[in-house]
Amino acid sequence: MFAHAAQDLGYRVHVFEPQCPCPAGAVADRETCAPFEDLAALEAFAASVDVVTYEFENIPAGPLRAVEAIVPLHPSSQVLHVCQNRAREKAWLRANGFPHARYAEALEGDIESAASEVGIPSVVKTADFGYDGKGQMKISTPQDLVQASAIFRGRRCVVEQWVDFEREVSVICARTASGETRVFPPAENLHTNHILDVSIVPARIPAAAEAAACDLAVRVANRLGAVGLVAVEMFLTTWGEVLVNEIAPRPHNSGHWSMDGCETSQFEQQVRAVCGLPLGPTGVIRPTVMVNILGDAWRRGTEPNWSAVLSEPRARLHLYGKPEPRPGRKMGHFTVQGASVADALELALAIKSRL
Ligand SMILES: Nc1ncnc2c1ncn2[C@@H]1O[C@H](COP(=O)(O)OP(=O)(O)O)[C@@H](O)[C@H]1O
Ligand SMILES: [Mg+2]
Repeated sequence: MFAHAAQDLGYRVHVFEPQCPCPAGAVADRETCAPFEDLAALEAFAASVDVVTYEFENIPAGPLRAVEAIVPLHPSSQVLHVCQNRAREKAWLRANGFPHARYAEALEGDIESAASEVGIPSVVKTADFGYDGKGQMKISTPQDLVQASAIFRGRRCVVEQWVDFEREVSVICARTASGETRVFPPAENLHTNHILDVSIVPARIPAAAEAAACDLAVRVANRLGAVGLVAVEMFLTTWGEVLVNEIAPRPHNSGHWSMDGCETSQFEQQVRAVCGLPLGPTGVIRPTVMVNILGDAWRRGTEPNWSAVLSEPRARLHLYGKPEPRPGRKMGHFTVQGASVADALELALAIKSRL
């Protein structure tokens, strides 16, 4: 989707990807297929382009620094270093005074002492390689604690207070090298099994919470000094606070609504930010709901009923061309526009059930 947006603005795109064939490679002008550790391939790639950006957080630090020595990397390896590890990210939030849920770090997987600081209910999250709820376990009882200690033994984790939130929202902030920032309006996010299921724009939150969420995202992006996109996931608590949950220095699943419902898509905004162009306007064209399509929709290998989306004039289908539908794997999404959020949501859920 980034490649399409860059090409629309006249750029050519070179993709570096360890796992080929990949969806981005299929539409890019060039593709290099090599592991991140293949320094020769990485350096040849870096030398062939004007600027490098990424949409994946688990890239090792060494290779990133090698790229950065040759060509501008946006956001920088420093920014990714903070965001790719939960323990570092939370320590950064704490050190910079950003509101977040109470947490303690469990070195070597010592969950019990970390949980005794934070209390129950809480959630254990591995510091590295977590996404879509992977590497997480909710702790509701002392028995869960015993189980978690066995599961996470020897792994660096954080134990975090379970937040009784009113709403979950995310704000994507674009920032250029000259320090210009622009936020997309907050998306309200509904998760199922810890995986994003539905995003709703405009979010059904009070104006004051919306302003606070946007302000927080801008301050996070500025403090990181990031160039590109910074997505900030937040909890609106039942007691009226806005807490930062996670930061992703890249386009975000909860921003996919912008491809159809916003004046500028998040992918075009990423192109503009990393290429030093003026940022685009981010007004909502019409209330929009985005629904993720997971591999689970391919029951017993049968394709989902795409007509359910395609026969509806207010819906748009986006499939990523991933080779194999696996349960929990994000295969695509669809968006629905409506006269109001309630109207768009109703139709989106009806289409989802027919899919
Ligand atoms: N402390 C928490 N309290 C309540 N819900 C949580 C908490 N941490 C995570 N969750 C839920 O699990 C989802 C996934 O967790 P998150 O920390 O965002 O990890 P990731 O998105 O990397 O899997 C969140 O979006 C939220 O719905
Ligand atoms: Mg998350």
